Amino acid sequence: MSINSESDNHKGPFSWRPSYHIAPPYGLMNDPNGFSYFNHQYWLFFQWNPSGCEHVNKHWGLMTSTDLVHWQQQPFKMAPTHWFDKDGCYSGSGLVEKGGLSLFYTGNVRHGELRESYQCLVTTEDGQQYLNQGPLWTKQLEDFTGHVRDPKVFYVNQQRRMWLAAQNRDLKGGVAVLDETAEGTWQLRGHYFNPIGWANDQLGYMWECPDRLQFGDQVVLVCCVQGINCSDPYSSNENLSGFFQIEEDADGEIRFTSDYLLLDHGFEFYAPQSIVDPQGQTILIGWMGLPDDPEQPSVANEQWCGQLTMPRVCQWENGALRQRPLAELFAAFSEPNTVLPITFKMASFECTNTCYIELDNLKGAGQLTVDNPKESLVITWDENGEATVDRTEFCTVGMDLIRQYKSRDGCIKQLQLFIDNSSFELFINDGEAVMTGRIFPNTSVTHATVLGVAGELKVRFLDTSCI
Ligand code: FRU
Repeated sequence: MSINSESDNHKGPFSWRPSYHIAPPYGLMNDPNGFSYFNHQYWLFFQWNPSGCEHVNKHWGLMTSTDLVHWQQQPFKMAPTHWFDKDGCYSGSGLVEKGGLSLFYTGNVRHGELRESYQCLVTTEDGQQYLNQGPLWTKQLEDFTGHVRDPKVFYVNQQRRMWLAAQNRDLKGGVAVLDETAEGTWQLRGHYFNPIGWANDQLGYMWECPDRLQFGDQVVLVCCVQGINCSDPYSSNENLSGFFQIEEDADGEIRFTSDYLLLDHGFEFYAPQSIVDPQGQTILIGWMGLPDDPEQPSVANEQWCGQLTMPRVCQWENGALRQRPLAELFAAFSEPNTVLPITFKMASFECTNTCYIELDNLKGAGQLTVDNPKESLVITWDENGEATVDRTEFCTVGMDLIRQYKSRDGCIKQLQLFIDNSSFELFINDGEAVMTGRIFPNTSVTHATVLGVAGELKVRFLDTSCI
């Protein structure tokens, strides 16, 4: 079957494959893994089922890049072929150390209903030859169920420390901290699962994919909390991706100094990983999917599903996280070719499926729609700073349809919207918030309309010769 073959629910001569986002060549992609800068390039491994679009048979695949814009898929495949990972090479992190790259991952092993987890190490000195050194320890950690995974390893005083997603025997999720001793064994330091003031039913049953960001003295623990009692009516509740501000002591003890803050206010965003690039910027990439996603239409028509977000540049400003699009990505887009530097009330213009629309100096309420002849993606904002994304017409059965975000400043001043065939990323107020989601239009986007008052409108189209 060709990639663009026609079927009942996919009518146009148009593919849902992204043009400037990472997607699998075939099969299912989920979490980014082992994100590293090593040997003058970016290494981005990912969870991959190369034999189908179900959440089974998890391998690691690999993409590399020298600029975070152009990516090449590499032949590398880490396959679940050992006794300690026979049911999946699950997620983990990368660490540039000892002249090479170390990859820490979880070997998932099932015995009927029972699950065992092994934290494993793969090393490479040149990115060509890889050595699987197997589990770092083999005994299962007593304090936890079999749900122990997604090692994030980093250095503290020349000693490795690991953060692990771990579910305790009361079925509460949290982060386990382990330190490697001078003898090379691993010691459990603690399990941190009860942020200040959370009630028992708010704790969540799992905190998947911990990651660690640091901005000067501010340390941030990123994790994907599943099953908290979330009061946001537009949140799916089940699978969230967010962070806590924390303080750590020398023994790795974690003190939470903020509530759980969402990293993304859209529909599908999960399991992000970060690196610090050679310029010192913190770059974050997430999976544009969720663990319990309904089957996506690209499975039936194009035999792939799941993709990653664009790289986001993270900064800590005035006590809050900002996430902005990577500046280098704009080189792949045309110069702004519709610019209205005047106050306007209505703008209507031709658009494409791989576009960037920016609205600056917005005043009051307004609406942006991106549409094909029959369907639209509708973004509205009101005088009180509430933005709403309604993707109803671009969705298929089972997907959540509406999300909202209320700006901290009480107004929406800027919107930056990226569309890439079957996804959108909406950056609000210069990186104050991001709303991310998948869309499955039946035909290509051709047109966009803005209603409202803005100081400036810029539209750019992807220059496919640059990507
Ligand atoms: C998150 C996750 C991880 C696990 C991986 C398996 O999406 O469930 O916790 O390691 O996916 O693919």
